Amino acid sequence: MMKMIAPVGIAAALLAANLLFGFQKDDAAKGDAAKGKETFEQCSVCHNADSTEKKMGPGLKGLFKHEKLTNGKPVNEANVRAIINAGGNGMPAYESILSDEEKNDVIAYLKTL
Ligand code: HEC
Repeated sequence: MMKMIAPVGIAAALLAANLLFGFQKDDAAKGDAAKGKETFEQCSVCHNADSTEKKMGPGLKGLFKHEKLTNGKPVNEANVRAIINAGGNGMPAYESILSDEEKNDVIAYLKTL
């Protein structure tokens, strides 16, 4: 019986490792959503991540599923990055506050919302 179960266990472990590795590889392409979540802590003073309800700024749940940003531009990485860099209308400019890597991470995180 053990001889039958062991290979199945190994196969399951390999599959799990594969899924995990594949997931991380995808995120590493641009940013790391898990790290971005930590970076987002400084945004969450003003932005809800779990709803679209307004705090200081608009709630960002489903941001990348929307067609347009409040400024009328299409929701894509470049336009979201531009907002993060420039801020405005009550949002601080993060151009020199966050590193490029932190911006990639936070954008990767926003895509998961
Ligand atoms: C002090 C409050 C404050 C902080 C901190 C803040 N924001 Fe904002 N944010 C705002 C406000 C206010 C707006 C709306 C600006 C406007 O209407 O032009 C906004 C707008 C946005 C938008 C555009 C949303 C849309 O639908 O058009 C994004 C994306 C965004 N913020 C991301 C972030 C990220 C990422 C961070 C952290 C790195 C952050 N914000 C930190 C206040 C803040």
